[in-house]
Amino acid sequence: MNDLNYKNKKLQFAKADILTIAKKHKTPFFLYSEKILTQNYLSFSNGALAAGLIDPLICFAMKSNPNKELVKILAKLGSGADIVSGGELKRALEAGIPAEKIVFSGVGKTEEEIIFALKLKGKGLNSFNVESIEELELINLCAKKLKRTARICFRLNPVVKPKTHKFISTGNKTHKFGLLEKDIISTLGDKKYWSHSSLVGLSVHIGSQLLDLKATKKALERLCEVALKTNMPIEFLDVGGGLGVDYHPNETHKLPRIDTYMEIIATTLEKHFYSKSKLKPRVVFEPGRRIVAKAGIFVMKVLRNKISEENHFVIVDGGMNDFMRPSLYDAYHALIPVKEAKASKECHIVGPICETSDCFGSNRLLPELKSGDLIILKDTGAYGYSMGSNYNLRGRPLELLMDQNKKLKVINKAQDYSDLT
Ligand code: LLP
Repeated sequence: MNDLNYKNKKLQFAKADILTIAKKHKTPFFLYSEKILTQNYLSFSNGALAAGLIDPLICFAMKSNPNKELVKILAKLGSGADIVSGGELKRALEAGIPAEKIVFSGVGKTEEEIIFALKLKGKGLNSFNVESIEELELINLCAKKLKRTARICFRLNPVVKPKTHKFISTGNKTHKFGLLEKDIISTLGDKKYWSHSSLVGLSVHIGSQLLDLKATKKALERLCEVALKTNMPIEFLDVGGGLGVDYHPNETHKLPRIDTYMEIIATTLEKHFYSKSKLKPRVVFEPGRRIVAKAGIFVMKVLRNKISEENHFVIVDGGMNDFMRPSLYDAYHALIPVKEAKASKECHIVGPICETSDCFGSNRLLPELKSGDLIILKDTGAYGYSMGSNYNLRGRPLELLMDQNKKLKVINKAQDYSDLT
């Protein structure tokens, strides 16, 4: 179980005793480990260096977990940020990420957000990762008004089909993301787009939770082909994010290792770009899940049991408003009791929300769980708190961080009734 182990029959996360923490803090809560977060970031960035990639820039995908304390840790390690809103831009800057390490993705950037980004001091953002021609037009216009030059990166839609859940697949032309090659090329010959903009890079991001890298390789080849065709002095190739994690034990044998992933990128870029060009663009990454998913767990308390003939429900105090992935994508997350005991019952672990999909796991074989017992949902550091809501007018949960010295810090207070205005 790696970072989750029983000691004296009590579950520990990154060597911290969960029962002890839950005595001091009200459930449900997210608990993160600085040590795991740091290890994940370093293995990613060191992997890129070890594969010989040119001047790699890791832009953490803030949407996966924008908690300021966590982003501060990554900023200190040298991380940049992949952002998709003015809110994420503000957060990234506050956490200490310099503007020149920020890429601004997203199909729906507003004029206000574009102006906010263009007004930043110094060189400004690393790039606006542009997803439509109208967006390019607007950015150029805003830059003109502000007397700036916008750094543009085109997000290519490479028209590939990765193996992942259809809701998080983004690399085909039926998806709203990225621009087709011909549309990218057509803008280059038209001066009206470029009076206050310059093309500095190309990017690709074909989806999330990718365990099979065949489509990734294809997308990179397409990225290189288009980069060569633009015949522009681009400064970087942005290979996106998407590298998956093993949520289910059956996924462990499929999990791409960081060195394998980096090797695929290095060899593909070498064969299809560097060997054919005088340019040496740096490589930009946008990982989210691989950095933060395994750095967090979600701790819940059992409220009560309910037996409806053959259906045994264990009702917990965390709900789909706190952690949405199982209800939204039917995603599997391991459920682990905090007190070690023999698994004896198949049950459904459900939350208090008035939706049948408010279920963290069906037919899970678990020990008997009584009111007051604790249970954790594993691998919830990514797309957990960030996708949460106040649905059913429930307060957002607490976020706790175990730092490198095993000191526990509240990094986001739980909301109470007075916050629910
Ligand atoms: N770059 C772009 C442009 C993206 O849209 C995303 C994720 C990433 C990078 C980071 O992808 P990652 O390395 O984390 O896979 N809520 C879903 C995931 C949505 C991903 C959206 N975009 C989930 O819980 O599975």
